[in-house]
Amino acid sequence: MPRKIIFDTDPGQDDAVALLLALASPEEVEVLGVTAVAGNVPLDLTAKNARIVCELAGRPDLPVHAGCDAPLARRLVTAENVHGATGLDGIDLRPPAMPLAETHAVDFIIETLRGEPSGSVTLVAVGPLTNIATAFDRAPDTVPRVQEIVIMGGAYFEVGNVTPAAEFNIYVDPEAAKLVFDSGAALTVMPLDVTHKALTSRDWVEGMRALGTRVGEAVASWTDFFERYDKAKYGNLGAPLHDPCAVAWLIRPELFSGKRVNVEIETAGEFTAGMTVADWWGVTGKAANCLFVNEVDRDGLFAMLTERLARLGQKPG
Ligand code: BDR
Ligand code: CA
Repeated sequence: MPRKIIFDTDPGQDDAVALLLALASPEEVEVLGVTAVAGNVPLDLTAKNARIVCELAGRPDLPVHAGCDAPLARRLVTAENVHGATGLDGIDLRPPAMPLAETHAVDFIIETLRGEPSGSVTLVAVGPLTNIATAFDRAPDTVPRVQEIVIMGGAYFEVGNVTPAAEFNIYVDPEAAKLVFDSGAALTVMPLDVTHKALTSRDWVEGMRALGTRVGEAVASWTDFFERYDKAKYGNLGAPLHDPCAVAWLIRPELFSGKRVNVEIETAGEFTAGMTVADWWGVTGKAANCLFVNEVDRDGLFAMLTERLARLGQKPG
């Protein structure tokens, strides 16, 4: 039985690859709907980009819901410097023909968690946690109904990518992250500690291009665009596929390992807002609230990505 998921996202090139991976993996994952949140770019663009990706995958039937356009308590910070002005820079794709679903993303999350059997819906959260925190705040009865939340966000040994202390998704809305991390829901976290090990190689990117499909061309062009930022910053050769790690966890969990730890979200720090303070050595005595992943079988991950993305077989043009 595939796991039912709601894919909460702020596309973003790596979000796009993550959504394609989910849509290419019906044996393991059934996408009930996509919920867009403001993050990498403003909400109008993330909601548009999510639909572009659904159409690219041949799924114009999938409901895409627009959600929160700003963090709970702060001004929105975006990342056009990483993802480009559209959020999906790298290749020109046609604007979506499919409409947005009428329901607000937060209502969709609440209605789905209430409507499906308790413990049967997983939330995959690869953007700021504003939509999910708002749903939990408005409908606390939905929290124990969640099977698992798989979050791309945070960093500990790897430290921050947007400030010296904080990773982007948590930094954008620390109050939302705190609410979710403190919620008691089962959490699996893919921080930079693992996603910075999920770097594309030139061979893999050219392999995507060689698929000869629109999906392959888009993935290669997106990662080429996205790569330049990390190359300049870290000297890495390759683009980090942050968000696909969250989906890959649901498909092949044996590719990953980590440790169950307590994570507190810093909301007040003058220099450290949005930091995920992971009690890696168990010095606080606080109960673990998540699985904090720090290792990945990189070759296994990329082999699986190739096999799955090759299934989305539209020819270029
Ligand atoms: C995260 O921030 C965004 O830029 C990416 O899409 C990813 O979700 C990495 O810090
Ligand atoms: Ca993202």
